[in-house]
Amino acid sequence: MSRETRKLEHIRLALAQRTHECGGFEDIRFVHQSLPESDLSETALETRIGELTFSSPILINAMTGGADKTKEINRKLAIAAAETGVAMAVGSQRAAIVDPALIHTYSVVREVNPQGIIAANLGADASVEDAIRAVEMIQADLLQLHVNVPQELIMPEGDRSFRGIRKRIAEIVKYSPVPVIVKEVGFGMSYETYKELIDIGVRIIDVGGRGGTNFIRIENERRKHRRFVSIETWGQSAAISLLEAGPFLDRVDVIASGGIRNALDVAKSLSLGASVVGIAGSFLRILQEEGLEALIDEITHLHEELRVIMTILGCNTISELRDVPLVITGFTADWCHARTID
Ligand code: FNR
Repeated sequence: MSRETRKLEHIRLALAQRTHECGGFEDIRFVHQSLPESDLSETALETRIGELTFSSPILINAMTGGADKTKEINRKLAIAAAETGVAMAVGSQRAAIVDPALIHTYSVVREVNPQGIIAANLGADASVEDAIRAVEMIQADLLQLHVNVPQELIMPEGDRSFRGIRKRIAEIVKYSPVPVIVKEVGFGMSYETYKELIDIGVRIIDVGGRGGTNFIRIENERRKHRRFVSIETWGQSAAISLLEAGPFLDRVDVIASGGIRNALDVAKSLSLGASVVGIAGSFLRILQEEGLEALIDEITHLHEELRVIMTILGCNTISELRDVPLVITGFTADWCHARTID
């Protein structure tokens, strides 16, 4: 099967996925306070990652590129990003590295949105040269390197060996012209992984938690038989992944993603320490089923609702959200109590 056909199948199957799961945020609750010293008109949505200032904490996360149909999706996502001031990532640029005739399916995002924050994307097995080409291809501000071991193992055409992965990430971090984000794609991150990534110089991590788009289910759907059903719920939710990042928040910027459904999930993510919140599958669904205007409306409303939540909580800035009390219940609380770390 060609890479192009596989990518189109991923989109079709991601759109067909109707999950009732979420990123674990049902276990996280804010405590209502009745006397907040806040003013809706003064709420500011700016946030920072390293030296970069984002005008919104929302990121349209990596999805696509590499074919005419997916170029059109990238073009529309980039218009939505430019209109609403949110950051955006393209999908894996491997296709255009292999065949430069496909570069236009990614670079369209920079043409449409010359001033916006845009992230390039490759697998963590990329070479330094490929990483630099991916960044230059779209004049990216950031480079995402995705790690997706469970998905690769289930894909008939996927990788089978992951030896040397840390060394390759370390090399790219060292030579990349822009800051590097290491991101999961729906299996979440652990204390141990954060520690290993920090040790090799990574300073931005996207948790890519379980509960949203499920790539084990997508790959299982592509198989006629011999499906890997027992591992369909593999991994940590975004909420648990953020809690696992707790001890490292003074050393890394964390992006929350995976099953983020609404403004309350965004607020909870920011409160748990994320600087930015990525949304992929649900934005794609709105774009493909309801159109570009509906996606712009959705992002505009997310901003509005986030401002309302911040005002209720007495916060004027995104960073103040980190100081509000949270109550953790259910499976997420059980996880925190049961988890032992050496
Ligand atoms: C993705 N995702 C993804 N991630 C990545 O790093 N490179 C990629 O090429 C892709 N491709 C891709 C295609 C499609 C159709 C979807 C829906 C997603 C993963 C994505 O960025 C994100 O990590 C997960 O989808 C989890 O977030 P959501 O979908 O639960 O918000």
